[in-house]
Amino acid sequence: MNVVNHTPVSVVTIERFIIEQERLYPEASGELSGILYDIALAAKMISNKVRMAGLVDIIGATENENVQGETQQKLDVLSNDIMIKAMDHGGRLCAMASEEEPDIIPIPDRFRTGKYCLMFDPLDGSSNIDVNVPVGTIFSVVRKITNGRAGELEDFLQPGRRQVAAGYIIYGSSTMMVYSTGQGVHGFTLDPSIGEFLLSHPNIRTPHKGKFLSVNDSYEQYWDEQVKALMRRYRGLDGVQQAHNVRYVGSLVADFHRNLLAGGVFVYPANSMSPRGKLRLLYEANPLAFICEQAGGAGSDGRIRILDVQPTELHQRTPLYLGSKGDVMTAIEMLMPVEVTA
Ligand code: AHG
Ligand code: MN
Ligand code: MN
Repeated sequence: MNVVNHTPVSVVTIERFIIEQERLYPEASGELSGILYDIALAAKMISNKVRMAGLVDIIGATENENVQGETQQKLDVLSNDIMIKAMDHGGRLCAMASEEEPDIIPIPDRFRTGKYCLMFDPLDGSSNIDVNVPVGTIFSVVRKITNGRAGELEDFLQPGRRQVAAGYIIYGSSTMMVYSTGQGVHGFTLDPSIGEFLLSHPNIRTPHKGKFLSVNDSYEQYWDEQVKALMRRYRGLDGVQQAHNVRYVGSLVADFHRNLLAGGVFVYPANSMSPRGKLRLLYEANPLAFICEQAGGAGSDGRIRILDVQPTELHQRTPLYLGSKGDVMTAIEMLMPVEVTA
C-alpha cells in the first residue's frame, strides 16, 4: 500500500528567510530586513482587500461597511494608503514615492526617519480588477544619498543599479511575494490558512530564451519600422527564429511573473502616441529589471540597460524590453540606431 507522506520537508517562513539572509552580513543593521517584513505585512492586507473585490457591492450593503466608507474607495487608492500606513513609522525610511502620488511622501515628524527610500506601484494592473484578472504591487528600495533628516527628490533619482532591494507581490490564483536583495531571487507563497508567506520558489532562474512574447500589438500602427521588424522576428515571420507564443494579460506583474518562471519577453515599446513608452521607470521598470537580472535575465529600454538609465523625474516613463536574456538581446540588436553617413 502506498502511504502518502504529508509532512513537509522544511517550512521556511519569509521572516525566517529574511533573518537567515541577514546573518550572511554581520555588518547589517537589520533595517532592510525590517522594511521587507513591513512590505510582507502590507501585501497580506492588500491581498485581503483584493480577494474581497467582487464582494464589495454585496457586503457594502450592510450598515457596517457603509459607515466605514473605506470599501467605497478604489482599490488602488486603498492599496496606496495601506502601503503608506504600513511603512511610515518603522524608522527605516526617509521618504517614499508612489505611482499614485504626485510628489515625494514625507515621513510624519512624529516618527523617526532612516537611511532608505521606498518607491512603489501599490496596485499594478488595477483596471483589471473588475474582470478578476491578477494584479500586483511592485516595490524598490534605494539608500538615501543626501544628508538631511528627510528624503529629497535627489535620493529617488538614482539609477536602478543602486537598488538594494526590489520585488513584487502577485495577487493571482495564489498570492506570492518575490524579492531580491542582490543575492538571487526568491519567491514565497501566502498560505491563507495561517497568514504566512512560505518559501516556495528559492533561487529563481529564468530561461535564456523564452517561449512567450507579451506585447499589446494594438499599437502596431504607431510603431516605427524597427519595432515592427522586431515583432516579426519574435513571431517567427522572417524565418530567423521559432515563433514565440503571444500572452498578454495587461497586468505587468502577471505578464512578468509568467515570463520569469517560464521564459519569454515583455515588450512595451515607445510609439508615436507615447514617445517615451508607458511604463514608469522608478515604480515598474527598475524593480522588475533588478529582479530579472538577478534571475539571469535582462532589461533594456531598447538602447541601454534599464538599470543604467539616469532618472530625471519621479514619474518618468520608459520603453521596456524585459525578460530572457536571449530575447532582450534580439531587441537590442534589431533596435540599434542606424548609422547615418554623410
Ligand atoms: P497601472 O495599473 O499600475 O497603471 O499599470 C498598468 C500598466 C501595466 O500593468 C500593463 O502592463 C500596462 O499598463 C498595460 O498597458 P496597455 O493597456 O497600454 O497595454
Ligand atoms: Mn503599474
Ligand atoms: Mn498602479
